[in-house]
Amino acid sequence: MSETPQPADLIVFGGTGDLSMRKLFPALYHCDRDGRLSPETRIIAMSRGGLDDADFRGKVDAEVRGSVPVDDLGTWQRFLDRLHHVSVDIGGEDVTGWAKLTALLAGHEQRSRVFYLASPPMTFGPFCRELHRAGLVTPASRVVLEKPLGRDLPSAQRINDEVGAIFDERQIYRIDHYLGKETVQNLLVLRFANAFLEPIWNSLWIDHVQITVAETVGTPGRRGYYDHAGALRDMVQNHLLQLLCLVAMEPPSRNDRESIRDEKVKVLESLRAITGGEVDRFTVRGQYTAGESGGVQVPGYLDEPDSTAPTEASHRVETFAAIRAEVKNWRWAGVPFYLRTGKRMPYRHSEIVVQFKDVPHSIYPGSTPNRLVLRLQPSEGIKLHIMAKEPGAGEVALKPVPLSLSFAETFTSRVPEAYERLLMDVLTGNPTLFMRRDEVEAAWRWIDPILSEWESYGTAPEPYPAGSSGPAGAHELVSRSDRAWHEEYPA
Ligand code: BG6
Repeated sequence: MSETPQPADLIVFGGTGDLSMRKLFPALYHCDRDGRLSPETRIIAMSRGGLDDADFRGKVDAEVRGSVPVDDLGTWQRFLDRLHHVSVDIGGEDVTGWAKLTALLAGHEQRSRVFYLASPPMTFGPFCRELHRAGLVTPASRVVLEKPLGRDLPSAQRINDEVGAIFDERQIYRIDHYLGKETVQNLLVLRFANAFLEPIWNSLWIDHVQITVAETVGTPGRRGYYDHAGALRDMVQNHLLQLLCLVAMEPPSRNDRESIRDEKVKVLESLRAITGGEVDRFTVRGQYTAGESGGVQVPGYLDEPDSTAPTEASHRVETFAAIRAEVKNWRWAGVPFYLRTGKRMPYRHSEIVVQFKDVPHSIYPGSTPNRLVLRLQPSEGIKLHIMAKEPGAGEVALKPVPLSLSFAETFTSRVPEAYERLLMDVLTGNPTLFMRRDEVEAAWRWIDPILSEWESYGTAPEPYPAGSSGPAGAHELVSRSDRAWHEEYPA
Protein backbone atom coordinates (compact mmCIF):
# COMPACT_ATOMS: atom_id res chain seq x y z
CA MET A 1 0.00 0.00 0.00
CA SER A 2 1.40 3.40 -0.91
CA GLU A 3 2.10 5.83 1.90
CA THR A 4 0.09 9.00 2.38
CA PRO A 5 1.98 11.82 0.63
CA GLN A 6 3.53 14.29 3.05
CA PRO A 7 3.38 18.06 2.50
CA ALA A 8 6.48 19.48 0.85
CA ASP A 9 7.74 22.73 -0.63
CA LEU A 10 9.52 22.44 -3.95
CA ILE A 11 11.42 25.58 -4.92
CA VAL A 12 12.56 25.57 -8.54
CA PHE A 13 15.35 27.94 -9.58
CA GLY A 14 15.16 28.49 -13.35
CA GLY A 15 11.43 28.00 -12.82
CA THR A 16 10.38 29.59 -16.12
CA GLY A 17 13.14 27.94 -18.16
CA ASP A 18 12.92 25.32 -20.86
CA LEU A 19 13.53 22.32 -18.59
CA SER A 20 10.89 23.44 -16.12
CA MET A 21 8.27 24.00 -18.78
CA ARG A 22 9.02 20.91 -20.87
CA LYS A 23 9.86 18.36 -18.19
CA LEU A 24 9.44 19.38 -14.56
CA PHE A 25 5.94 20.87 -14.52
CA PRO A 26 4.43 18.20 -16.79
CA ALA A 27 5.99 15.54 -14.54
CA LEU A 28 4.70 17.26 -11.39
CA TYR A 29 1.25 17.51 -12.90
CA HIS A 30 1.28 13.74 -13.55
CA CYS A 31 2.33 13.11 -9.95
CA ASP A 32 -0.50 15.35 -8.77
CA ARG A 33 -3.05 13.68 -11.06
CA ASP A 34 -2.02 10.25 -9.72
CA GLY A 35 -2.58 11.45 -6.14
CA ARG A 36 1.10 11.38 -5.21
CA LEU A 37 1.32 14.97 -3.98
CA SER A 38 -0.12 16.04 -0.66
CA PRO A 39 -2.91 18.63 -1.02
CA GLU A 40 -0.64 21.06 0.86
CA THR A 41 2.45 20.62 -1.34
CA ARG A 42 3.52 23.85 -3.00
CA ILE A 43 5.67 24.49 -6.05
CA ILE A 44 7.50 27.80 -6.00
CA ALA A 45 9.19 28.93 -9.21
CA MET A 46 12.09 31.36 -8.88
CA SER A 47 13.22 33.38 -11.88
CA ARG A 48 14.17 36.87 -12.92
CA GLY A 49 10.85 36.94 -14.75
CA GLY A 50 9.13 39.73 -12.79
CA LEU A 51 5.93 37.64 -12.68
CA ASP A 52 3.39 37.37 -9.89
CA ASP A 53 1.56 34.13 -9.04
CA ALA A 54 -1.29 34.86 -11.44
CA ASP A 55 1.05 35.64 -14.36
CA PHE A 56 3.02 32.50 -13.69
CA ARG A 57 -0.06 30.28 -13.46
CA GLY A 58 -1.19 31.81 -16.77
CA LYS A 59 2.18 30.99 -18.33
CA VAL A 60 2.05 27.36 -17.17
CA ASP A 61 -1.56 27.11 -18.32
CA ALA A 62 -0.57 28.38 -21.78
CA GLU A 63 2.65 26.40 -22.16
CA VAL A 64 2.13 23.15 -20.29
CA ARG A 65 -1.55 22.32 -20.52
CA GLY A 66 -1.31 21.29 -24.19
CA SER A 67 1.37 18.72 -23.46
CA VAL A 68 -0.35 16.80 -20.65
CA PRO A 69 -3.63 14.88 -20.51
CA VAL A 70 -6.13 17.19 -18.83
CA ASP A 71 -9.18 14.98 -18.49
CA ASP A 72 -10.67 16.99 -15.71
CA LEU A 73 -10.35 20.73 -15.32
CA GLY A 74 -10.68 20.49 -11.54
CA THR A 75 -7.46 18.47 -11.32
CA TRP A 76 -5.67 20.92 -13.60
CA GLN A 77 -6.87 23.86 -11.52
CA ARG A 78 -5.72 22.12 -8.34
CA PHE A 79 -2.28 21.83 -9.91
CA LEU A 80 -2.22 25.50 -10.95
CA ASP A 81 -3.24 26.53 -7.44
CA ARG A 82 -0.09 24.91 -6.06
CA LEU A 83 2.10 27.21 -8.15
CA HIS A 84 3.74 30.37 -6.88
CA HIS A 85 6.33 32.63 -8.42
CA VAL A 86 9.07 34.66 -6.77
CA SER A 87 11.20 37.07 -8.82
CA VAL A 88 14.76 36.99 -7.69
CA ASP A 89 17.60 39.36 -8.50
CA ILE A 90 20.43 36.90 -8.95
CA GLY A 91 23.67 38.29 -7.60
CA GLY A 92 22.14 41.78 -7.47
CA GLU A 93 21.35 44.35 -4.82
CA ASP A 94 17.61 43.77 -4.70
CA VAL A 95 16.88 41.31 -1.89
CA THR A 96 13.09 41.57 -1.97
CA GLY A 97 12.83 38.24 -3.80
CA TRP A 98 14.73 36.42 -1.05
CA ALA A 99 12.59 38.14 1.57
CA LYS A 100 9.44 37.06 -0.24
CA LEU A 101 10.66 33.46 -0.40
CA THR A 102 11.53 33.58 3.29
CA ALA A 103 8.03 34.81 4.11
CA LEU A 104 6.43 32.08 1.97
CA LEU A 105 8.43 29.35 3.67
CA ALA A 106 8.09 30.67 7.22
CA GLY A 107 6.22 28.33 9.53
CA HIS A 108 6.83 25.31 7.29
CA GLU A 109 10.25 24.32 8.59
CA GLN A 110 9.19 20.75 9.37
CA ARG A 111 8.18 19.97 5.80
CA SER A 112 10.46 18.42 3.18
CA ARG A 113 11.96 21.42 1.51
CA VAL A 114 13.49 20.79 -1.89
CA PHE A 115 15.55 23.39 -3.73
CA TYR A 116 15.73 22.32 -7.37
CA LEU A 117 18.54 24.13 -9.20
CA ALA A 118 17.50 23.96 -12.86
CA SER A 119 19.83 26.85 -13.56
CA PRO A 120 23.35 27.06 -15.03
CA PRO A 121 25.98 25.33 -12.87
CA MET A 122 27.84 28.55 -12.05
CA THR A 123 24.75 29.65 -10.10
CA PHE A 124 24.73 26.56 -7.83
CA GLY A 125 27.26 27.88 -5.33
CA PRO A 126 25.85 31.44 -5.15
CA PHE A 127 22.26 30.17 -4.76
CA CYS A 128 23.22 27.79 -1.98
CA ARG A 129 25.07 30.56 -0.14
CA GLU A 130 22.10 32.89 -0.57
CA LEU A 131 19.71 30.24 0.78
CA HIS A 132 21.98 29.70 3.74
CA ARG A 133 22.31 33.44 4.40
CA ALA A 134 18.53 33.76 4.36
CA GLY A 135 18.32 30.93 6.94
CA LEU A 136 16.25 28.77 4.59
CA VAL A 137 18.29 25.58 4.75
CA THR A 138 16.57 23.39 7.34
CA PRO A 139 17.57 19.86 8.38
CA ALA A 140 14.67 18.64 6.20
CA SER A 141 16.04 20.45 3.13
CA ARG A 142 17.45 18.82 0.01
CA VAL A 143 19.05 20.35 -3.04
CA VAL A 144 18.77 18.96 -6.56
CA LEU A 145 21.55 19.76 -9.02
CA GLU A 146 20.77 19.53 -12.72
CA LYS A 147 23.49 18.56 -15.14
CA PRO A 148 25.97 19.60 -16.43
CA LEU A 149 27.83 19.46 -13.16
CA GLY A 150 30.86 21.44 -14.28
CA ARG A 151 32.76 21.17 -17.53
CA ASP A 152 35.71 19.14 -16.27
CA LEU A 153 36.98 17.61 -13.04
CA PRO A 154 38.28 20.83 -11.42
CA SER A 155 35.07 22.76 -12.10
CA ALA A 156 32.93 19.84 -10.88
CA GLN A 157 35.01 19.68 -7.69
CA ARG A 158 34.61 23.41 -7.19
CA ILE A 159 30.81 23.19 -7.52
CA ASN A 160 30.70 20.17 -5.23
CA ASP A 161 32.78 22.05 -2.66
CA GLU A 162 30.58 25.12 -2.84
CA VAL A 163 27.33 23.17 -2.50
CA GLY A 164 28.92 20.85 0.05
CA ALA A 165 29.80 23.84 2.24
CA ILE A 166 26.07 24.41 2.80
CA PHE A 167 24.43 21.01 2.36
CA ASP A 168 25.52 17.59 3.65
CA GLU A 169 26.20 15.01 0.96
CA ARG A 170 23.05 13.14 2.06
CA GLN A 171 21.02 16.25 1.21
CA ILE A 172 22.49 16.64 -2.29
CA TYR A 173 20.66 15.01 -5.20
CA ARG A 174 22.60 15.14 -8.49
CA ILE A 175 20.12 14.25 -11.16
CA ASP A 176 20.70 12.23 -14.31
CA HIS A 177 17.27 11.73 -15.78
CA TYR A 178 18.37 8.59 -17.64
CA LEU A 179 18.41 6.79 -14.30
CA GLY A 180 14.68 7.43 -13.96
CA LYS A 181 13.77 5.81 -17.28
CA GLU A 182 11.69 2.65 -16.97
CA THR A 183 13.94 0.41 -19.06
CA VAL A 184 16.97 1.52 -17.10
CA GLN A 185 15.17 0.45 -13.95
CA ASN A 186 14.25 -2.75 -15.66
CA LEU A 187 17.84 -3.48 -16.56
CA LEU A 188 18.58 -3.80 -12.84
CA VAL A 189 15.53 -6.00 -12.32
CA LEU A 190 16.41 -8.12 -15.35
CA ARG A 191 19.93 -8.64 -14.06
CA PHE A 192 19.30 -9.03 -10.35
CA ALA A 193 15.82 -10.55 -10.07
CA ASN A 194 16.41 -13.34 -12.59
CA ALA A 195 18.85 -16.21 -12.24
CA PHE A 196 19.56 -17.05 -15.86
CA LEU A 197 21.57 -14.01 -16.98
CA GLU A 198 24.11 -13.49 -14.24
CA PRO A 199 26.18 -16.67 -14.87
CA ILE A 200 26.75 -15.63 -18.48
CA TRP A 201 27.09 -11.88 -17.85
CA ASN A 202 30.85 -11.77 -18.33
CA SER A 203 33.71 -11.92 -20.80
CA LEU A 204 33.38 -15.69 -21.21
CA TRP A 205 30.02 -15.29 -22.91
CA ILE A 206 29.75 -11.68 -23.99
CA ASP A 207 31.61 -10.43 -27.05
CA HIS A 208 30.87 -6.75 -26.66
CA VAL A 209 28.30 -4.20 -25.51
CA GLN A 210 26.92 -1.23 -27.47
CA ILE A 211 25.21 1.75 -25.90
CA THR A 212 23.56 4.12 -28.35
CA VAL A 213 21.62 7.30 -27.63
CA ALA A 214 20.62 8.69 -31.02
CA GLU A 215 18.46 11.78 -31.39
CA THR A 216 16.84 13.27 -34.47
CA VAL A 217 16.76 16.75 -32.96
CA GLY A 218 19.45 19.28 -33.73
CA THR A 219 20.46 22.19 -31.55
CA PRO A 220 18.46 25.19 -32.83
CA GLY A 221 18.54 27.99 -30.27
CA ARG A 222 21.01 26.13 -28.02
CA ARG A 223 24.31 27.45 -29.41
CA GLY A 224 25.17 29.38 -26.26
CA TYR A 225 25.11 26.15 -24.25
CA TYR A 226 26.07 23.58 -26.83
CA ASP A 227 29.18 25.26 -28.25
CA HIS A 228 30.81 24.86 -24.85
CA ALA A 229 29.34 21.48 -24.01
CA GLY A 230 29.36 19.18 -27.03
CA ALA A 231 28.18 15.58 -27.05
CA LEU A 232 30.90 14.32 -24.74
CA ARG A 233 29.99 16.64 -21.87
CA ASP A 234 26.28 16.82 -22.65
CA MET A 235 25.59 13.09 -23.02
CA VAL A 236 28.57 10.76 -22.53
CA GLN A 237 29.95 12.02 -19.20
CA ASN A 238 26.58 11.45 -17.59
CA HIS A 239 23.85 9.50 -19.42
CA LEU A 240 25.96 7.02 -21.37
CA LEU A 241 28.42 6.35 -18.56
CA GLN A 242 25.55 5.77 -16.15
CA LEU A 243 24.09 3.19 -18.52
CA LEU A 244 27.50 1.55 -18.84
CA CYS A 245 27.71 1.36 -15.05
CA LEU A 246 24.38 -0.42 -14.75
CA VAL A 247 25.37 -2.99 -17.37
CA ALA A 248 28.82 -3.59 -15.93
CA MET A 249 28.35 -3.30 -12.15
CA GLU A 250 28.60 -6.22 -9.75
CA PRO A 251 25.40 -7.35 -8.02
CA PRO A 252 24.90 -5.04 -5.04
CA SER A 253 24.19 -6.65 -1.71
CA ARG A 254 21.09 -4.52 -1.15
CA ASN A 255 18.81 -2.22 -3.09
CA ASP A 256 19.51 0.74 -0.89
CA ARG A 257 20.87 4.25 -1.16
CA GLU A 258 24.55 3.37 -1.04
CA SER A 259 24.97 -0.21 -2.29
CA ILE A 260 24.10 0.49 -5.93
CA ARG A 261 26.12 3.69 -5.99
CA ASP A 262 29.12 1.92 -4.43
CA GLU A 263 29.09 -0.60 -7.25
CA LYS A 264 28.72 2.06 -9.93
CA VAL A 265 31.74 3.96 -8.66
CA LYS A 266 33.82 0.79 -8.86
CA VAL A 267 32.93 0.48 -12.56
CA LEU A 268 33.89 4.09 -13.28
CA GLU A 269 37.15 3.61 -11.48
CA SER A 270 37.85 0.47 -13.51
CA LEU A 271 37.47 2.20 -16.86
CA ARG A 272 40.71 1.96 -18.77
CA ALA A 273 42.03 5.48 -19.26
CA ILE A 274 42.16 6.66 -22.86
CA THR A 275 44.99 9.16 -23.12
CA GLY A 276 47.39 10.75 -25.59
CA GLY A 277 47.67 8.99 -28.93
CA GLU A 278 45.05 6.41 -27.97
CA VAL A 279 42.35 9.07 -28.07
CA ASP A 280 42.56 9.19 -31.85
CA ARG A 281 42.29 5.41 -32.06
CA PHE A 282 39.48 4.82 -29.58
CA THR A 283 37.27 7.89 -30.00
CA VAL A 284 35.45 9.64 -32.82
CA ARG A 285 33.89 13.08 -32.91
CA GLY A 286 31.57 14.38 -35.58
CA GLN A 287 29.52 17.46 -36.42
CA TYR A 288 26.39 17.40 -38.59
CA THR A 289 26.17 19.26 -41.84
CA ALA A 290 22.97 20.03 -43.78
CA GLY A 291 20.89 17.03 -44.77
CA GLU A 292 17.50 15.41 -44.71
CA SER A 293 16.15 14.38 -41.36
CA GLY A 294 12.62 13.10 -40.72
CA GLY A 295 11.71 13.83 -44.33
CA VAL A 296 12.66 17.52 -44.19
CA GLN A 297 15.76 19.39 -45.20
CA VAL A 298 17.59 20.70 -42.12
CA PRO A 299 20.62 22.99 -41.77
CA GLY A 300 24.01 21.96 -40.50
CA TYR A 301 25.13 22.74 -36.94
CA LEU A 302 26.80 25.98 -37.94
CA ASP A 303 23.68 27.25 -39.70
CA GLU A 304 21.14 26.36 -37.01
CA PRO A 305 18.94 29.38 -36.28
CA ASP A 306 20.15 31.10 -33.15
CA SER A 307 20.34 34.52 -31.60
CA THR A 308 24.15 34.42 -31.75
CA ALA A 309 26.42 33.83 -34.74
CA PRO A 310 28.74 30.81 -34.82
CA THR A 311 32.13 31.36 -33.24
CA GLU A 312 35.43 29.51 -33.32
CA ALA A 313 34.04 27.18 -30.65
CA SER A 314 31.06 26.34 -32.86
CA HIS A 315 33.40 25.04 -35.55
CA ARG A 316 35.17 22.74 -33.12
CA VAL A 317 32.30 21.34 -31.09
CA GLU A 318 31.13 17.76 -31.60
CA THR A 319 27.47 16.87 -32.05
CA PHE A 320 28.39 13.19 -32.29
CA ALA A 321 30.75 11.13 -30.18
CA ALA A 322 31.72 7.47 -30.24
CA ILE A 323 34.13 5.73 -27.89
CA ARG A 324 35.48 2.25 -27.47
CA ALA A 325 35.69 1.84 -23.70
CA GLU A 326 36.96 -1.04 -21.59
CA VAL A 327 36.23 -2.01 -18.01
CA LYS A 328 39.38 -3.46 -16.54
CA ASN A 329 38.28 -6.11 -14.09
CA TRP A 330 37.84 -9.88 -13.97
CA ARG A 331 34.31 -9.84 -15.25
CA TRP A 332 34.89 -7.63 -18.29
CA ALA A 333 38.54 -7.96 -19.29
CA GLY A 334 38.78 -7.76 -23.08
CA VAL A 335 35.10 -6.88 -23.69
CA PRO A 336 34.73 -3.59 -25.59
CA PHE A 337 31.93 -1.25 -24.57
CA TYR A 338 31.10 0.86 -27.61
CA LEU A 339 29.36 4.12 -26.76
CA ARG A 340 27.85 6.49 -29.29
CA THR A 341 25.52 9.43 -29.25
CA GLY A 342 24.58 12.03 -31.80
CA LYS A 343 22.17 14.73 -32.83
CA ARG A 344 20.36 14.60 -36.20
CA MET A 345 20.57 10.85 -36.48
CA PRO A 346 18.12 9.05 -38.80
CA TYR A 347 15.91 7.80 -35.93
CA ARG A 348 15.48 8.60 -32.29
CA HIS A 349 16.48 5.49 -30.47
CA SER A 350 18.31 4.73 -27.27
CA GLU A 351 19.34 1.21 -26.59
CA ILE A 352 21.79 -1.12 -24.92
CA VAL A 353 22.88 -4.09 -27.00
CA VAL A 354 24.61 -7.01 -25.35
CA GLN A 355 26.18 -9.13 -28.05
CA PHE A 356 26.89 -12.67 -26.91
CA LYS A 357 29.64 -14.86 -28.32
CA ASP A 358 28.90 -17.69 -30.69
CA VAL A 359 28.26 -21.20 -29.37
CA PRO A 360 31.53 -22.98 -28.54
CA HIS A 361 30.94 -25.59 -31.22
CA SER A 362 28.34 -25.14 -33.92
CA ILE A 363 26.62 -28.12 -35.47
CA TYR A 364 24.33 -25.98 -37.62
CA PRO A 365 25.50 -23.82 -40.45
CA GLY A 366 24.08 -20.33 -40.50
CA SER A 367 23.65 -19.79 -36.77
CA THR A 368 24.33 -16.34 -35.40
CA PRO A 369 25.20 -15.43 -31.82
CA ASN A 370 22.53 -14.33 -29.35
CA ARG A 371 21.90 -10.68 -28.76
CA LEU A 372 20.01 -8.92 -25.99
CA VAL A 373 18.58 -5.52 -26.87
CA LEU A 374 17.22 -3.23 -24.19
CA ARG A 375 15.32 -0.44 -25.84
CA LEU A 376 15.06 2.69 -23.69
CA GLN A 377 13.13 4.73 -26.22
CA PRO A 378 10.95 4.86 -28.15
CA SER A 379 8.66 1.87 -27.41
CA GLU A 380 10.47 0.61 -24.32
CA GLY A 381 11.12 -3.09 -24.33
CA ILE A 382 13.54 -5.96 -24.15
CA LYS A 383 14.35 -8.36 -26.98
CA LEU A 384 16.47 -11.47 -26.76
CA HIS A 385 17.41 -12.67 -30.22
CA ILE A 386 17.73 -16.45 -30.23
CA MET A 387 18.20 -19.01 -32.97
CA ALA A 388 15.18 -21.10 -33.91
CA LYS A 389 14.46 -23.67 -36.56
CA GLU A 390 12.34 -22.51 -39.44
CA PRO A 391 9.36 -24.87 -39.80
CA GLY A 392 9.69 -27.35 -42.61
CA ALA A 393 10.89 -30.80 -43.56
CA GLY A 394 14.27 -31.46 -45.09
CA GLU A 395 17.43 -29.55 -44.29
CA VAL A 396 17.36 -27.72 -40.94
CA ALA A 397 17.22 -23.99 -41.60
CA LEU A 398 17.92 -21.57 -38.75
CA LYS A 399 16.52 -18.15 -38.20
CA PRO A 400 17.25 -15.56 -35.50
CA VAL A 401 13.93 -14.69 -33.83
CA PRO A 402 13.27 -12.27 -30.98
CA LEU A 403 11.82 -13.21 -27.62
CA SER A 404 10.22 -9.88 -27.06
CA LEU A 405 8.88 -7.99 -24.09
CA SER A 406 7.08 -4.80 -25.03
CA PHE A 407 6.19 -2.75 -21.97
CA ALA A 408 3.22 -1.16 -23.71
CA GLU A 409 1.74 -4.54 -24.67
CA THR A 410 2.54 -6.36 -21.43
CA PHE A 411 1.60 -3.74 -18.87
CA THR A 412 -1.55 -1.70 -19.06
CA SER A 413 -0.33 1.08 -16.80
CA ARG A 414 1.14 4.24 -18.28
CA VAL A 415 4.93 4.32 -18.54
CA PRO A 416 5.88 7.35 -16.44
CA GLU A 417 8.39 9.93 -17.58
CA ALA A 418 11.80 9.71 -15.93
CA TYR A 419 11.32 13.03 -14.12
CA GLU A 420 8.14 11.82 -12.40
CA ARG A 421 9.93 9.06 -10.62
CA LEU A 422 12.98 11.15 -9.79
CA LEU A 423 10.94 14.07 -8.46
CA MET A 424 8.97 11.73 -6.22
CA ASP A 425 12.24 10.18 -5.02
CA VAL A 426 13.55 13.63 -4.05
CA LEU A 427 10.31 14.57 -2.31
CA THR A 428 10.33 11.34 -0.31
CA GLY A 429 14.08 11.41 0.33
CA ASN A 430 15.32 8.43 -1.67
CA PRO A 431 18.73 9.20 -3.27
CA THR A 432 19.41 5.75 -4.78
CA LEU A 433 18.93 6.93 -8.37
CA PHE A 434 20.97 10.11 -7.95
CA MET A 435 24.69 10.48 -8.45
CA ARG A 436 27.04 10.73 -5.54
CA ARG A 437 29.93 13.16 -5.57
CA ASP A 438 32.53 10.42 -6.09
CA GLU A 439 30.60 9.05 -9.08
CA VAL A 440 30.45 12.38 -10.88
CA GLU A 441 34.09 13.04 -10.22
CA ALA A 442 35.18 9.57 -11.34
CA ALA A 443 33.27 10.10 -14.60
CA TRP A 444 35.05 13.44 -15.21
CA ARG A 445 38.39 11.85 -14.38
CA TRP A 446 37.88 9.43 -17.28
CA ILE A 447 36.44 12.04 -19.67
CA ASP A 448 38.98 14.82 -19.06
CA PRO A 449 41.96 13.32 -20.95
CA ILE A 450 39.74 12.71 -23.98
CA LEU A 451 38.45 16.28 -23.84
CA SER A 452 41.87 17.81 -23.53
CA GLU A 453 43.26 15.72 -26.36
CA TRP A 454 40.33 16.72 -28.59
CA GLU A 455 40.83 20.34 -27.64
CA SER A 456 44.53 20.11 -28.49
CA TYR A 457 43.78 18.98 -32.07
CA GLY A 458 42.55 22.43 -33.07
CA THR A 459 40.68 20.84 -35.97
CA ALA A 460 37.00 20.51 -36.81
CA PRO A 461 35.24 17.22 -36.02
CA GLU A 462 34.48 14.82 -38.86
CA PRO A 463 31.41 16.04 -40.77
CA TYR A 464 28.33 13.82 -41.24
CA PRO A 465 25.17 14.77 -43.06
CA ALA A 466 22.08 15.27 -40.91
CA GLY A 467 19.93 12.14 -41.18
CA SER A 468 22.92 9.81 -41.57
CA SER A 469 24.11 7.44 -38.89
CA GLY A 470 27.22 9.46 -38.04
CA PRO A 471 30.70 9.95 -39.47
CA ALA A 472 32.60 7.21 -41.27
CA GLY A 473 35.07 7.07 -38.38
CA ALA A 474 32.35 5.69 -36.09
CA HIS A 475 31.87 2.74 -38.40
CA GLU A 476 35.60 2.14 -38.61
CA LEU A 477 35.78 2.15 -34.83
CA VAL A 478 33.78 -1.08 -34.72
CA SER A 479 34.58 -2.59 -38.13
CA ARG A 480 38.28 -2.58 -37.22
CA SER A 481 37.55 -5.58 -35.03
CA ASP A 482 35.00 -7.10 -37.44
CA ARG A 483 32.00 -5.77 -35.61
CA ALA A 484 29.15 -3.52 -36.72
CA TRP A 485 26.76 -1.15 -34.99
CA HIS A 486 23.33 -2.56 -34.32
CA GLU A 487 21.06 -0.68 -36.72
CA GLU A 488 17.59 -2.08 -36.20
CA TYR A 489 15.30 0.90 -36.24
CA PRO A 490 11.88 1.03 -34.69
CA ALA A 491 9.00 0.47 -37.13
C1 BG6 B 1 19.79 16.14 -22.01
C2 BG6 B 1 20.74 16.79 -23.01
O1 BG6 B 1 20.47 15.83 -20.82
O2 BG6 B 1 19.28 14.93 -22.56
C3 BG6 B 1 20.04 17.05 -24.32
O3 BG6 B 1 21.20 18.03 -22.47
C4 BG6 B 1 19.39 15.77 -24.83
O4 BG6 B 1 20.96 17.54 -25.29
C5 BG6 B 1 18.53 15.12 -23.75
O5 BG6 B 1 18.60 16.11 -25.97
C6 BG6 B 1 18.03 13.75 -24.20
O6 BG6 B 1 17.11 13.26 -23.26
P1 BG6 B 1 15.99 12.25 -23.70
O7 BG6 B 1 15.32 11.84 -22.43
O8 BG6 B 1 15.10 12.98 -24.65
O9 BG6 B 1 16.68 11.11 -24.37
